[in-house]
Amino acid sequence: MVKSLLKLSLIASACILLAACDRPADDVATLGAQLAEEKGCLACHGLNGKGTAPTFPNINGQWPSYLHKQLEKYRSGERQNMIMSAQAKGLSDQDIKILSRYYAAQ
Ligand code: HEC
Repeated sequence: MVKSLLKLSLIASACILLAACDRPADDVATLGAQLAEEKGCLACHGLNGKGTAPTFPNINGQWPSYLHKQLEKYRSGERQNMIMSAQAKGLSDQDIKILSRYYAAQ
């Protein structure tokens, strides 16, 4: 009982911190971090946009319009890369918009 109460209050405070559970997360910072985790971007570009290995480019501080364009190009096949073409396939227009703005702001 005490344990489950504790668990509940931990979940509740995580929700307050992440602003993700009880109200729609509508800011780029929150949604972007969620997407970067959900889509797996962070494995290679980190949450801060810094490549986690020399083969993974830093994408932080880049122009959002540039990142946006690259992701669209990977998705359409205009720019090809084995890893990124596969990554971009699963992104919606809205995902691309948020991820571009999120990483540009890091
Ligand atoms: C398995 C590792 C990996 C994952 C996961 C990954 N990337 Fe990449 N990313 C790369 C590599 C490698 C490149 C360079 C590809 C090339 O040479 O075109 C790259 C390139 C990019 C570029 C272009 C950078 C530039 O300077 O032109 C963007 C933007 C990008 N990734 C965003 C993302 C986003 C957003 C996600 C999540 C949906 C993601 N990546 C997931 C490895 C990864």
